[in-house]
Amino acid sequence: MPVEFLGIAATNDGSEITPRSGAAFDKEYTLRLARAHEEHGWDRVLFAYGSGSPDPAPAAAYIASRLDRLQILLAHRPNVSYPTYAAKTFATLDQISEGRLTVHFITGGNDREQGREGDVLTKDERYARTREYIRIVKKIWTTHEPFDHEGEHYRFHDFVSDVFPVQQPRPNVSFGGSSPAAYAAGGAEADIYCLWGEPLERTAEQIEAVKAAARAAGRTDVPRIQVAFRPIIAPTEELAWEKAHRTVGAIKARRERGEAVTKRHNGQAGPQNTGSQRLIAIAEAGERYDRALWTPTAAATGGAGNSNALVGTPETVAQALLDYYDLGVDILSARGYDLLGDAIDFGRHVIPIVREEVAKRDAERAARGTQTLTAVHG
Ligand SMILES: Cc1cc2nc3c(=O)[nH]c(=O)nc-3n(C[C@H](O)[C@H](O)[C@H](O)COP(=O)(O)O)c2cc1C
Repeated sequence: MPVEFLGIAATNDGSEITPRSGAAFDKEYTLRLARAHEEHGWDRVLFAYGSGSPDPAPAAAYIASRLDRLQILLAHRPNVSYPTYAAKTFATLDQISEGRLTVHFITGGNDREQGREGDVLTKDERYARTREYIRIVKKIWTTHEPFDHEGEHYRFHDFVSDVFPVQQPRPNVSFGGSSPAAYAAGGAEADIYCLWGEPLERTAEQIEAVKAAARAAGRTDVPRIQVAFRPIIAPTEELAWEKAHRTVGAIKARRERGEAVTKRHNGQAGPQNTGSQRLIAIAEAGERYDRALWTPTAAATGGAGNSNALVGTPETVAQALLDYYDLGVDILSARGYDLLGDAIDFGRHVIPIVREEVAKRDAERAARGTQTLTAVHG
């Protein structure tokens, strides 16, 4: 299976180490960053969602209409719209992008952040709602006759959409979360299951949990797995480690100055979402894991989302990523701390190595398959 690379579609140049230089929606930078991904070997970029952030759907439409190949992963929170409305938005966006859309359904890991846009459900209730919502969206994408829906969270009658996706039967559904409720909902509904980068052993555990949930839901296939990292690369190991320590120093300095380095303070002592709690526990247990995983970036941000680094030369980081590929990961997600410069460097120096090695592994596997067949058949 060829590996895929997911980057980030930020709408401004701010990151954990630097405040943004302009507005939250910087149209020129949004296009420049997306174009850098398209021109340097990436497959797809994530348009993330935050309560106060620029709306990712029109930003994604803008990028899709300006670029030809880059695919879109649009983050969407069910609490902000009705599923009939969302399904039409997605279908229209799949038309604008000529079939380049995947939707990442976000349940929301923090009550206070959810409350900012009127969501009062508990996390487990939110997962049940997401599940119902995804099913409705899938049905609208594929149903050409009016239908009724009577569910726990949504009720509507006589609905049929007049706009359908380009992708048939429908665009892919992506999903993230590391709690049992997340595995159950995503295992049942997701085509792509997203994890934040953890040590190999812990990642293997999560992949197994997702597969078990898919089987428990009666599926015969399993979601493809995506894992996300923050690579810190340099021409030598020594320079990469210097850069890593400089990066954590910059995150801590911003934090000490009281600048919002990650998400807006949500008022709790620690994160409520299991994914972030896992990242903090892993960082407390050790700084370095496996070939190149480094946790102080996760510790310094309080386990804020995709925050574990992979540190080293492009060769080292590529080999570390291949370890995840060998574990069963299909999509590698990466984002640097200098969003634009790192997207270019990673695309130039890391992606080609990983693709070449994956092609070799796939060719060897195919050859082994042929040999086995030859042995069996004579
Ligand atoms: C790759 C990935 C991307 C995510 N993107 C967003 C996002 O843009 N906005 C957001 O609020 N949550 C985002 N999340 C958070 C999850 O969708 C989910 O709401 C949260 O992790 C649930 O917590 P849990 O680990 O306790 O199940 C993302 C998660 C993953 C794995």
